[in-house]
Amino acid sequence: TQQKTWSQRFESALHPAIARFNASIGFDIELIEYDITGSIAHAKMLAKTGIISKQEGEQLVAGLEQIRQEYRLGEFNPGIDAEDIHFAVEHRLTQLVGDAGKKLHTARSRNDQVGTDTRLYLRDQITQIRSQLREFQGVLFNLAADNVETLIPGYTHLQRAQPVSLAHHLLAYFQMVQRDWERLGEIYKRVNISPLGSGALAGTTFPIDRHYTAELLNFDGVYANSMDGVSDRDFAIEFLSASSIIMVHLSRLAEEIILWSSQEFGFVTLLDTCATGSSIMPQKKNPDVPELVRGKTGRVFGHLQGMLVLMKGLPLAYNKDLQDDKEALFDSVKTVKGCLEAMTILLSEGLEFRTSRLAQAVAEDFSNATDVADYLAARGVPFREAYNLVGKVVKTSLAAGKLLKDLSLEEWKELHPAFESDIYDAIAPSQVVAARNSYGGTGFDQVRQALQAAQSQLSGD
Ligand code: ARG
Repeated sequence: TQQKTWSQRFESALHPAIARFNASIGFDIELIEYDITGSIAHAKMLAKTGIISKQEGEQLVAGLEQIRQEYRLGEFNPGIDAEDIHFAVEHRLTQLVGDAGKKLHTARSRNDQVGTDTRLYLRDQITQIRSQLREFQGVLFNLAADNVETLIPGYTHLQRAQPVSLAHHLLAYFQMVQRDWERLGEIYKRVNISPLGSGALAGTTFPIDRHYTAELLNFDGVYANSMDGVSDRDFAIEFLSASSIIMVHLSRLAEEIILWSSQEFGFVTLLDTCATGSSIMPQKKNPDVPELVRGKTGRVFGHLQGMLVLMKGLPLAYNKDLQDDKEALFDSVKTVKGCLEAMTILLSEGLEFRTSRLAQAVAEDFSNATDVADYLAARGVPFREAYNLVGKVVKTSLAAGKLLKDLSLEEWKELHPAFESDIYDAIAPSQVVAARNSYGGTGFDQVRQALQAAQSQLSGD
């Protein structure tokens, strides 16, 4: 078995169960390429500052690149003996380049090393998630552009409220996702700071150049305080928090799609590529995709909570608790990416809006009642008075099994002399929507402007 790097001080080997308990190689293998990249920068810095020779530096870089190739070819599979990815790479490096390999860890600790790896990893993931968010926005945008004049009931309290343009509804999500994209961009700035060179906690006795490694690794700056550099995970908490908010947004849309695809709503049809059947009920077509998205939201929230609790009682500086940050991050990244991909496919090719059913829905309810009140208010009747009057009309119409459009002009005039024959136009669903032309509202002109604005948001950075 492999000798532990720290074993000289120890008389006997770790209990095998404790070795397994302590090891992180089972999951931090995910960081391997970032670990190698970070080590290459460190090796170059050691050579540049004369801490090791130029030749040793070159040996280290070549050996590290070779490990990268071995890993990519599936030939590097460190086991539990390696303990973690940092020891695994260092051990292999020493096998490959001999004594020079033993110099790699000069002026470095696994504490600043793992902090560096995690930030390099997260920064890549943020970039990938941001481009997925953009793609998702593109799909929402296209769907909205095709449905400016498609009407859908708008709800409050899940009760029919006022009809809206389907595009308006979809653009609401577009804007949420826009903020998610912006939020991750802001967090990226705080992820992209180098802790490398913080050492174990207090810095190092060697004449290192932290700015040089930061530059090699494309970090925007370096942690000003070595204890802070190795011990905080606020950047990870921010990421998990932004991820949780992304999941909230996805989950709300998922919930709506689940409702819309039910027989009761019947607003969308799920296409066969994105729906599944039942093992027993042959008629079923289930919305598994949005259900899974809604379900998986919980684990991302859990990871945020877990990370907050992990951090709250930690004295400075590094504590082994911090090793437990990784699975939460990795799982959140995987979950967010998977859900974004699935929702993007679902909305771009996995469902169809049933437009005739939607048109019928908005025509057969009382969601134009506000417009009757507005009609009177616009003709000088105080709004509250108009509101009360229309409430009465709704009550009597409901009792008579009628809709507002079924009232005769005589009936309208009886209610209030201000009603004229244009009341019928005023309460037609498309007019009800078109009339809400205040900035940010669902009026068609507003929605067309909102689409234009969304298009420039999409191409912005
Ligand atoms: N595998 C460890 C982690 O993920 C590396 C750092 C270990 N440092 C230490 N002092 N034990 O945090």
